[in-house]
Amino acid sequence: MAFQGVKGTRDFYPDAMRLRNWITDAWRRVSLRNGFEEYDSPIFEYLDLFTAKSGQEIAEQLFSLTDRGGRNLAIRPEITPALARMVNARINALPRPIKWFSVPRLCRAENPQKGRLREFFQWNIDIIGSDDVLADAECVFVAVDFLREVGLSPSEVQVRIGSRPLTVAALRGCGVGDEVIDKALAVLDKRAKISDQEFLDAARKIGMDDAQVRTVMRFQDCAGVAELRQAVAEAEGAGEACDKLERLMACLQAMGAGDYCALDLRVVRGLAYYTGVVYEVFDTGQNLRAIAGGGRYDNLLAVLGGPQVGATGFGMGDVVLGILLEERGRLPETLKAASLDVFVIDDRPELAELVFQTVGALRRAGRAADFSYKRQNVGKQLKEANKRGARQAAILKSPDLVALKNLATGEQVEMSMTEFQEKYCSLVPKP
Ligand code: HAM
Repeated sequence: MAFQGVKGTRDFYPDAMRLRNWITDAWRRVSLRNGFEEYDSPIFEYLDLFTAKSGQEIAEQLFSLTDRGGRNLAIRPEITPALARMVNARINALPRPIKWFSVPRLCRAENPQKGRLREFFQWNIDIIGSDDVLADAECVFVAVDFLREVGLSPSEVQVRIGSRPLTVAALRGCGVGDEVIDKALAVLDKRAKISDQEFLDAARKIGMDDAQVRTVMRFQDCAGVAELRQAVAEAEGAGEACDKLERLMACLQAMGAGDYCALDLRVVRGLAYYTGVVYEVFDTGQNLRAIAGGGRYDNLLAVLGGPQVGATGFGMGDVVLGILLEERGRLPETLKAASLDVFVIDDRPELAELVFQTVGALRRAGRAADFSYKRQNVGKQLKEANKRGARQAAILKSPDLVALKNLATGEQVEMSMTEFQEKYCSLVPKP
């Protein structure tokens, strides 16, 4: 019986792996140049960590298991609660603000569809320990910095920015009761993905009347902060939330990321822990699912047993990003395997032993070296060297004579084995 991989998972053959590394290398490069340090967490945690404050949707998508001691565990569907747990454990020792990034492998028991799989990689950028809008602006800037780095322009991708407190204020303002707010946020989050009729039906189902739905829709369609101020003028705390949104947009403009960003109150986010500005990155045609999403989550550390500390950040998956880059022709055409410095070849079979010795000496010196398992003529071995992308071939002519061939130019120089060893088999200095 032939076995197959599980639906919604991917095999990474070397060519796919090179592509994955190309993306994750860019994530790491951009994180580091923006001043973030890498961390990681275990692949599974106690189940409660992910059911405490992430919300219904993610709780339904957990791959959970029970260990032999009867403890309830879950494979991580996101890393944010684990980050909060880790920071809480060392809260007094860590200098703030904490600027950390991670590239975890995550699992969600989703229905596999275009852009959503059951196993994926997700770049996370988070700043903990600052209440300043500057921290939110910096996270958005990092996302934009990456998008620009991989060649996506503002006409192709946009960061759409909303505000949880303003959305809550608008809901309260039209009489939606506190007990319905969480459910209402979940319905509003779906608005862009469903028809107006489906949206209306979902809102009615949680007890909102048609007038309330119309008012909230009008609020969500506000195009600028001035219009927003009018729409939520009466609501408590709304003025401050509008100020923050305005400052965020100004910071992004000042940092040179403004052209990628737009206000969009239809962005609510599915996760329950967000408390401030929220945002999602979409392709401008909005043909694909979100490329990234994040926002401010000032209560999560406290909910998980730590102090009240401001936190903000985002996650960007590799799946939609990969689809978009492919559609736009922005993926590098050929990603070569790590190239070999030297391919060692024997002129005749008696020198085979010397081939292994030389390869061993080259590798011990830190050079990428390889050789053919087949003892065949020089021409065939050279062909293999070219196929492997080697820069040079060292052809052993006799125990004391080496011909070094540059495989790009075809140029060849001869030298004694002693000279070859002195030049190529002494330790390569580490960078
Ligand atoms: P999220 O919106 O659940 O947020 O996921 C963020 C991104 O991860 C999505 O926009 C998408 O690119 C990718 N993603 C999510 N689920 C899948 C899936 N099933 N298949 C492929 N890609 C997926 C979070 O996870 C938050 N913890 C992000 C965050 C960090 N907020 C603050 N800090």
